[in-house]
Amino acid sequence: MVTNKEKIELLKTRTEEARQGGGPKRIQKQHERGKLTARERLDLLLDPGTFSEGGMFIVPQDTAFSKDARKFYGDGVVTGSGLVDGRRVYVFAQDFTVMGGSLGEKHAHKICRVMDKGIQTGSPIIGLIDSGGARIQEGLGHYGSIFFRNTLASGIVPQISIILGPCAGGAVYSPALSDFVFMVDGVSRMHITGPQVIKEVTGERVTPEELGGAKVHSTRSGVAHFATEGEKECLELAKTLLSYLPSNSNEPPPYKSTDDPIDRTEEALESLIPENPRKAYDMKTLIGLVMDDQIFFEVQEGFARNIIIGFARLNGYTVGVIANQPRVFAGCLDINASVKAARFIRFCDAFGIPIVNFVDCPGYLPGTQQEYEGIIRHGAKMLYAYCEATVPRISVVTRKIYGGAMSGMAVSKLVGTDVTAVLPSAEIAIMGPEGAANIIFREEIQKADDPEAVREEKIRLYREQFATPYVAAEKGWVDAIIEPKEIRPFLITSFERLRGKKEIRPKKKHGTIPL
Ligand code: HXC
Repeated sequence: MVTNKEKIELLKTRTEEARQGGGPKRIQKQHERGKLTARERLDLLLDPGTFSEGGMFIVPQDTAFSKDARKFYGDGVVTGSGLVDGRRVYVFAQDFTVMGGSLGEKHAHKICRVMDKGIQTGSPIIGLIDSGGARIQEGLGHYGSIFFRNTLASGIVPQISIILGPCAGGAVYSPALSDFVFMVDGVSRMHITGPQVIKEVTGERVTPEELGGAKVHSTRSGVAHFATEGEKECLELAKTLLSYLPSNSNEPPPYKSTDDPIDRTEEALESLIPENPRKAYDMKTLIGLVMDDQIFFEVQEGFARNIIIGFARLNGYTVGVIANQPRVFAGCLDINASVKAARFIRFCDAFGIPIVNFVDCPGYLPGTQQEYEGIIRHGAKMLYAYCEATVPRISVVTRKIYGGAMSGMAVSKLVGTDVTAVLPSAEIAIMGPEGAANIIFREEIQKADDPEAVREEKIRLYREQFATPYVAAEKGWVDAIIEPKEIRPFLITSFERLRGKKEIRPKKKHGTIPL
């Protein structure tokens, strides 16, 4: 008869066996690939000793082609819950040492269970992805059940996908359906079809890194929101992101106390914006100077750099920042910028994060390339997202804003912005001075002896007489004209006055955002 002591010993042995995943040799190979194991990753992500595992002894479905007689406990994915900075998260980590972290039926069930619990308990869902995709031996894929839950969880709990190895084929769509994607240089790979298939089908030659590495997805495709040098930095960065987010859409974002005075005025802002409207400046400097402890956590830093998005805190409360970057395309809106901002605005709105816009935007990027690729329908996404957002929203015009971009950048209160402020040096008008002067004074310019001189004079006149903050204030377009150094106290007071804002909109199943 087996004694209780022996039963406990069996539990210990089996637990250790499960913890070994694919075994010491495959763990060594994983390390040789420059990658950590699933459990090492969880140790870095979660507060020490807080991981509570489920389904540790689940084994893969019997497969006709299994080359290994031994059982792989856990079926290639480690799942459970834990704490990050004391806050609960549900998490799954694919174990590449077990059949390449491939997704079989039980593996998929384990992930789905974690996602269900995340949704039911209002906890963020974090996936650590390192997988050869659908398990070849098991035939039909099971990704559908994960995609379904990604969609279910969308807008209820934050979903974070951290790519720490291959993620290819249809498997890419779970990260793509989540809110934030992290990648690591030289380690993460995401693509629909691999280099080999591409070569066979189109003849195009591309390396795996060029096709689906962290760099390409964080700068060109926009798939990845964050790219880091190593796994450790990546997991740290994910924790920082979580520190800004509420655990679910019914909770307010976490409050972080600060010693940064709420009435801090910032003299450096007075000289940041050049007198010459054509001269660029770095909007990130402005954002940094305004926010608590001068910290700005940028999202999608390398993609569509003409618009800046990210999180920061004002008086301890999380805010979402959307800002034009005058250094890139003079801060014009284009297709990628519109899509990037639209998605961020919707995330902030879904999770009750107030929005602040810093605006310096001459308009939409002109040209056939933008028109042919659909700036109209893509620009509409951003407009839709702003119009839809009911969280407190404040816009500050730092330099210029004209015409349609007044709605596009939510300077206009007609698109639901709560408060709009401008700096005294800002230019704000229905049209840019150059374009406006050409139209209003066309005849006068054409008939003049020196048309160019008259044109210049009219532009100057328009700039001084019409495109001023005072005209905008007289028309009621803006609520306040503030000194640059006052941006921080102004924003803090204004958000304080908007706290608890509720806006009832007509009920509907869902809108039809022009995707
Ligand atoms: C079963 C797999 C596997 C898979 C890898 N392995 N992918 N087992 N199903 N899909 C196993 C290998 O047999 C090997 O087992 C171990 O994982 C490590 O694989 P290696 O090839 O040695 O590693 P590496 O050289 O790093 O290459 C990793 C890889 C490559 C790039 C992921 O293994 C690969 O290309 N795998 C196939 C990818 C694939 O075609 N997947 C199906 C995609 S279709 P041992 O026992 O030696 O350790 C798909 C559809 C989704 O995902 C549909 C959703 C809608």
